[in-house]
Amino acid sequence: MELNDLLEEVKTLAVETGRFLRTERKSFRRDKVEKKAAHDYVSYVDKTSEQLIVKRLRELLPEAGFVTEEGSAFFSGEEYCWLVDPLDGTTNFIHDNAPYCVSIALRKGNKMQLGVVYECCREELYWATKDSPAYLNGQEIHVSDLSVLDQAFIELGFPYDAERFRPFINGIIASLYGHVGGLRLLGSAAAELCYLAAGRFEARIEGLLGPWDIAAGSLILQRAGGRVSDFNGGDTYHSGHEVLASNGKLHDELLKIIRLHLQKK
Ligand code: IPD
Ligand code: CA
Ligand code: CA
Repeated sequence: MELNDLLEEVKTLAVETGRFLRTERKSFRRDKVEKKAAHDYVSYVDKTSEQLIVKRLRELLPEAGFVTEEGSAFFSGEEYCWLVDPLDGTTNFIHDNAPYCVSIALRKGNKMQLGVVYECCREELYWATKDSPAYLNGQEIHVSDLSVLDQAFIELGFPYDAERFRPFINGIIASLYGHVGGLRLLGSAAAELCYLAAGRFEARIEGLLGPWDIAAGSLILQRAGGRVSDFNGGDTYHSGHEVLASNGKLHDELLKIIRLHLQKK
């Protein structure tokens, strides 16, 4: 199947899955929540969403492997690999708080081919392919061109492993609080990368994510003119460990600030 045909199928799948999430949210009860680790939750909604996505993606591209958050399918070295977060922003979902989203990306070898994120609360469908612009609900999007740190609107992510990350997070907040236009913690990495791609924010910093959290959003951000790197400015961000995402203009300045606090991680 051609990449553009696949893209159309994945866009439809993301919107349909997002509708499932919104419908389930209406009757969702807290006693359905299970704990994966300290403060890291899941429910039948994440798992069912993943099963629906995996089933459809298998029909679309039977030869592809999978890297998925809830582990219902696997990667064993296939040339093609789907990276799926069936519900990014689980804690938001549990508390009926925005944003939360569906995130699906396709990788061939080492190169991301397409990324689709459906942000359920604002009904925003973001997408890009390796050689297309980035789009939000059919309109081309671009990162902001703001280059003054003092005015920058910055998203932070707090990894679940608080013991390990507390010193690093404290250091980052100490460096940025009062020196940037605003700091926010929205709780859905994939949606936040898309907000950055749409020019709503200037940067996002998080010290530990999964590859499923960032695969689609990173491609969308890059195709919107933004930059993504690990905390040394390199490419290991693909693993999800250490992700600095920005409009490009503030990237190097933020890398310097992050490096001041790296040893605390
Ligand atoms: C989480 C969200 C959150 C980020 C965490 C992720 P989940 O994903 O993206 O914003 O800070 O590191 O694990 O658990 O809601 O899919
Ligand atoms: Ca996630
Ligand atoms: Ca998730």
